[in-house]
Amino acid sequence: MTQHLHDKVRALEWGGDHLRLLDQRCLPEREVWLQLNTSGAVAEAIREMAVRGAPAIGIAAAYGAVLAAREAHGDRDRFMRLLAAMGEARPTAVNLEWALKRMRALIERPAPAEWADVLLLEAHAIHAADIAANRRMGELGSALIQSGGVLTHCNTGSLATGGYGTALGVIRSAWAANRIDRVYADETRPWLQGSRLTAWELVRDGIPVTVLCEGAAAGLMAAGKIDWVIVGADRIADNGDVANKIGTYGLAVLARHHGIRFMVVAPLSTVDRHTPSGKHIPIETRSGEEVLSCAGKPTAAEGSRAWNPVFDVTPAGLIDVIVTEAGIVENPAANGMKSLFA
Ligand code: MRU
Repeated sequence: MTQHLHDKVRALEWGGDHLRLLDQRCLPEREVWLQLNTSGAVAEAIREMAVRGAPAIGIAAAYGAVLAAREAHGDRDRFMRLLAAMGEARPTAVNLEWALKRMRALIERPAPAEWADVLLLEAHAIHAADIAANRRMGELGSALIQSGGVLTHCNTGSLATGGYGTALGVIRSAWAANRIDRVYADETRPWLQGSRLTAWELVRDGIPVTVLCEGAAAGLMAAGKIDWVIVGADRIADNGDVANKIGTYGLAVLARHHGIRFMVVAPLSTVDRHTPSGKHIPIETRSGEEVLSCAGKPTAAEGSRAWNPVFDVTPAGLIDVIVTEAGIVENPAANGMKSLFA
């Protein structure tokens, strides 16, 4: 695989007869690689967020389907049940169902003995196409940036995709082209994808990064330090509404107030044309423990409760541009996503 400038990290690979994943729960402290031999283990890794980020979840599930084909021994119903179990692991990122749908369709023709081989070719193709899409989005998004500082949220980099990243791919690309001079990363409570993962990737790739609590973003914008907010997506509805990591909506409101442009970067596999608007996107709620504690230690008064929706929906009207590998959509509130599929 060709590695480009500022692009050393890979977190997901096929090990010949198993899936290897860099366990994102352990970063930045330890680099632990998991070896997954069953589709059930892949479903658990997705549910427990050893692998996370919309495109990475889809790619992991595609390799998981290869494992499911082996486990099913030619039993079509069993294969479908194993895929359904992976599909239920997390509800918001549409890339998961997108990848499983492609895998399901592929077993209709070949003999059962060939399923695993056919599915492995497809999983490799999905993986490679994701990296290629990220590079293309990197070019398209970077071309929109003149200079200055950017703020990103969550982790949208090599850890969250097949490699290179969506929003972080644009940032990598813009940094390499000298189009930005400061990168700020929200820490991203409660799971800390920004401080644990984005900062880890950027430091490894030689891109200076400044981490802030997301509560500090308003002050940073008011101080004139930010020219673009650049984020990824877990699902983009047909009208351009975007579900992404909790806190994204708040950033979009802040950006509009301060006259700062707001860019969403996501591959076509994240665009769900069957979901008419953000109202229809299922939002995952995770255990309150993630809010009430940090690294196993309580951070809230005993007896308090937590509300932990892990995504929110940013209305298309707050988004200046959506970048995909098929082109960009400016002013998605007026244009929706249909032009990309013409
Ligand atoms: O809960 P996570 O960490 O899976 O959430 C990830 C995000 O919200 C990302 O911004 C999104 O998946 C895009 S990743 C390229």
